[in-house]
Amino acid sequence: MAECSHDCSTCSQKCSKESLLEPQNKASNVKRVIGVVSGKGGVGKSLVTSMLAVTM
Ligand SMILES: Nc1ncnc2c1ncn2[C@@H]1O[C@H](COP(=O)(O)OP(=O)(O)O)[C@@H](O)[C@H]1O
Ligand SMILES: [Mg+2]
Repeated sequence: MAECSHDCSTCSQKCSKESLLEPQNKASNVKRVIGVVSGKGGVGKSLVTSMLAVTM
């Protein structure tokens, strides 16, 4: 097996190292994404998100 190049787009091997991350837009400088999620509405997602933004 060839050395892993970490570039799954040019590799035909089916290994477990394939990243599930969507490649970042080249123009983006976003470093982190924090998910604030819930199956229900009205539980405080927007409140938590805004408080995190204010705190940061
Ligand atoms: N920890 C909390 N204590 C009291 N009220 C809260 C709390 N979190 C959210 N709320 C209130 O509940 C309502 C729904 O919150 P919101 O953040 O809009 O929820 P979501 O975005 O999940 O739908 C808002 O009126 C908000 O002020
Ligand atoms: Mg909301």
